[in-house]
Amino acid sequence: MENNKRPETMARITTKELADAFIAEQVAEVRAQVGDKKVLLALSGGVDSSVVAALLIKAIGKQLVCVHVNHGLMRKNESENVIEVFRNQLDANLVYVDATDRFLDLLAGVSDPESKRKIIGKEFINVFADEARKLEGISFLAQGTIYPDILESIKQAEGKKAVKSHHNVGGLPEDLQFELVEPIKLLFKDEVRVVGEALGLPHAMVYRQPFPGPGLGVRCLGAITRDRLHALREADAILREEFDKNGLAGKVWQYFVVIPDIKSVGVKDESRYEGWPAIIRAVNTTDAMSATVEEIPYAILHHITARITSEVEGINRVLYDITPKPTGTIEWE
Ligand code: XMP
Repeated sequence: MENNKRPETMARITTKELADAFIAEQVAEVRAQVGDKKVLLALSGGVDSSVVAALLIKAIGKQLVCVHVNHGLMRKNESENVIEVFRNQLDANLVYVDATDRFLDLLAGVSDPESKRKIIGKEFINVFADEARKLEGISFLAQGTIYPDILESIKQAEGKKAVKSHHNVGGLPEDLQFELVEPIKLLFKDEVRVVGEALGLPHAMVYRQPFPGPGLGVRCLGAITRDRLHALREADAILREEFDKNGLAGKVWQYFVVIPDIKSVGVKDESRYEGWPAIIRAVNTTDAMSATVEEIPYAILHHITARITSEVEGINRVLYDITPKPTGTIEWE
């Protein structure tokens, strides 16, 4: 537990120079820990696992095996982007697993949010473990644990209750016990980003907004269907594109679309058109415990509405959620 405590003397990493020094130190430490053995990493494409991947590629190159599991609940182009950056640009040893059908088949008909989370979390472990068993000679497991995760586990150990089960990767099965490599476990999120940029990762990846482990699964409300999930992915991509274009992406902490399992009557091309509503959520927060709603200019909202309703099959209305947290949570499930 001792080396899980950030030393009081540790300087906050705020500059490229400090990040470079941290990287050099970690590269040496990882090499000393790992030797010529192989290391496995679940690479989601989020900031933390991406920074760990880039750091380990620098330290041990192809001794790192990254496994990217596409659970079918990723945002548009997200898995493609992981492949582009890590396989094509950084020449990583990357195993890509498209497990869409495994996840969506298990989730069919399941509407309770916590049951959905449990299924997704459990199946993620199953898929990852299946891949790990196919690989030979793995001795270590790298994880993108960061300091707030350690502080959170301490809080949970003290018996404080969480509103939602935010577990992503739980424990691996008994036959897959590896020694852990956690090179960023003493860093805060802003420091992880500085290190990520110093490692040369794309800005968009390093400053990516938080995305929950269960992904679009908790934004396609109730029982997930493939057609509604597709509409959600397309509408969300339009929202993100417009936020980027209008300079909102860097200003708003988290912004996304939610699609409930209800239809309303509307009209398209002069005929009755029953469709789902797309709900826009755009919030600011510092710690995700409470959140305020970002005021998006009406002109931008009108434009996003016009695009979503005309470009996305199945959607006939766009709503804007102006509820802060509390009483709403950031996600709808
Ligand atoms: P809520 O909805 O609880 O969300 O206000 C707070 C933050 O946590 C994220 N979130 C999750 N992250 N697994 C995750 O990794 C989850 O199951 C999960 N549920 C919510 C949410 O996106 C927000 O940033």
